[in-house]
Amino acid sequence: MNQLQPNGAVSNSDAVPTMPSDFTDLLDEEINLAGGEFQEDEAFHGAVGRTMYDTPASKDNTVTILLPAEEIRRVPSQSLVRIKSRPLDKGGDGRQYIAAVVEGPFAEPDGLRADAPLVVTTTVRGATFTPRYHGRVQVEILGEEIDNKLVPPRFRPLPNSPVVVIDETETAERLRLLGDVTIGLAVGYESVPVSFSTERKDVLPRHTGILGTTGGGKSTTVSGLIGKLGTSGVAVVIFDTEGEYTQMMQATDDAGMLAALAQRGLEPQGVKNVGLYHLVGRATTNAQHPDRRQFCLKYENLSPYAVMEILNFNDAQQERFLKAYDIARRLMRDPKINPFSKEDEEKVFELDEMEEGYPRLTLQMMYELVRICADTVEGAENFDYLRVKAFRDNLPQIRSVIKEAQLPKVISSWRKVQGSLSRLLRLKIFDTPQATTPDYKAMTKPGRVTVIDLSDTDSPQINNLVISEILRGLHLQQDENYQASEKGESMRKVVVVIEEAHEFLSKERIKQMPVLHQQIERIAKRGRKRWLGLMFVTQLPQHLPDEVLGLINNYVLHKIADINVISRLKRSLGSVDEGLWNRLPNLAPGQAIISFAGMTRPLLVAIDPTPCRLRMIE
Ligand SMILES: Nc1ncnc2c1ncn2[C@@H]1O[C@H](COP(=O)(O)OP(=O)(O)O)[C@@H](O)[C@H]1O
Ligand SMILES: [Mg+2]
Repeated sequence: MNQLQPNGAVSNSDAVPTMPSDFTDLLDEEINLAGGEFQEDEAFHGAVGRTMYDTPASKDNTVTILLPAEEIRRVPSQSLVRIKSRPLDKGGDGRQYIAAVVEGPFAEPDGLRADAPLVVTTTVRGATFTPRYHGRVQVEILGEEIDNKLVPPRFRPLPNSPVVVIDETETAERLRLLGDVTIGLAVGYESVPVSFSTERKDVLPRHTGILGTTGGGKSTTVSGLIGKLGTSGVAVVIFDTEGEYTQMMQATDDAGMLAALAQRGLEPQGVKNVGLYHLVGRATTNAQHPDRRQFCLKYENLSPYAVMEILNFNDAQQERFLKAYDIARRLMRDPKINPFSKEDEEKVFELDEMEEGYPRLTLQMMYELVRICADTVEGAENFDYLRVKAFRDNLPQIRSVIKEAQLPKVISSWRKVQGSLSRLLRLKIFDTPQATTPDYKAMTKPGRVTVIDLSDTDSPQINNLVISEILRGLHLQQDENYQASEKGESMRKVVVVIEEAHEFLSKERIKQMPVLHQQIERIAKRGRKRWLGLMFVTQLPQHLPDEVLGLINNYVLHKIADINVISRLKRSLGSVDEGLWNRLPNLAPGQAIISFAGMTRPLLVAIDPTPCRLRMIE
């Protein structure tokens, strides 16, 4: 008898007859009867797998795909596949779909559950029993392909349809990842760069949020983007609250970053054409930079209503402040006190006091007027403190205007207003002779990068004043640039990066300073038409109110662990699938979910390491 030996060989034994000689002929006959040798359906050529039958757990718009073990690595997470139903005459419906891998690939043992005791035990004992296995991925249907166009799917792919992998070139096109600024490489692919276009008006000017916990990679992303935007001819202005970006003009010397750059095939290099601004009288974290200027704020750019907000005036104080402001307006119209230019006249004519202050009115003037009013109420007669020459020279006239004005009494409220203005004066950041306001025309030149170093102000209030004033200046400049573009000049593109955006735009602050924030919101809305894109960077997105999140169209989401934040973002960002959201709390530094306007779907991206130097902050 033929015996199966332990080694699988068959031993000859006389007890058993040999195989009939016509055995193979018989077999061939059987095969012919059954329709010939098994031929894989043509539709399956080149296929990596097939769609599975549905189960009670199946969900609309997602399909399970099964694949042999050797194909698993060809269908990584996020990759695109094409599901081709077989033609009508082969039992299919002839439809073709494009889908993206949203879960998996998972490896499952054939015919056994992965957690079956047999599998678990043998694995623990040293894996002497390793069953054959297959792959499973869950895909989300992006659309049905008709004449090479993707349309919303109306049907579901049939079970047992062949699935082929879409190559990386077609993937980049399908996902609309092409453009002049590259953010990084799509995770799961060999080399699919994720880029966006600075040419498109519906991307950067529609505002960007870069969110994630500390250490997630925000500053690396921001500094890398700044360099690339500059190269693409976009002007960038960054409000640098920590002084982290003041050495961007140098190449990085961070060992980890150098290694990451080398691996990605990138060179370390500094950002070109960087100008540095810091507030007059405040230090900068890079005093060596040759292209460095101090700037001051102009009181006349501040709406009187914004001033009252910043100084937190109560009703009585507001009444007195507005009274003094009224007097200021009348006096400023007097040519002896204030020789107006034609331009000023025009400005006054169009003045929107919710947006700006009175032309040429300085903080010193306002302070002195309030003080004269207070002294008048108190009956004091000593005005030696006056420093504004026009006021000293015209004191009798000023006093008669003030007398006519029927000042509200209660000296303590007047003195409070005077004290607050005096504190503002002592900051020495308004209307100083040794510094000018920022040069917005230069700041909006193509490729110009301006770092506003705010590291030495140690006051969120001052930062907010600076940010609002410069935003306003840039907005007015972009208005002007827009007019020029109508006359044929090419439109200047500007991106403004606001680091620690929660300090500037938190719900609390908005409540404290509604006027200032309405201004910002107006700028954000008009910025869309004027090519002024805002980029909000924060580790505390929970502090941003819905109004601000509502302004954001592009997202870079680094690691976020807070479940509440994730669920809020989910509401503003419908396009991110559950599989990606689930990864958000566990992202590595430098990984981010990218959802930019214009992309077919959000992607997990390994952000490019930054070639320039970031200053270490504690
Ligand atoms: N894209 C990246 N490539 C390589 N390493 C990165 C990347 N992003 C972040 N890292 C690493 O993580 C650290 C923290 O990143 P950083 O940008 O300072 O985070 P955040 O600004 O969110 O606090 C970096 O110093 C670097 O070591
Ligand atoms: Mg940072």
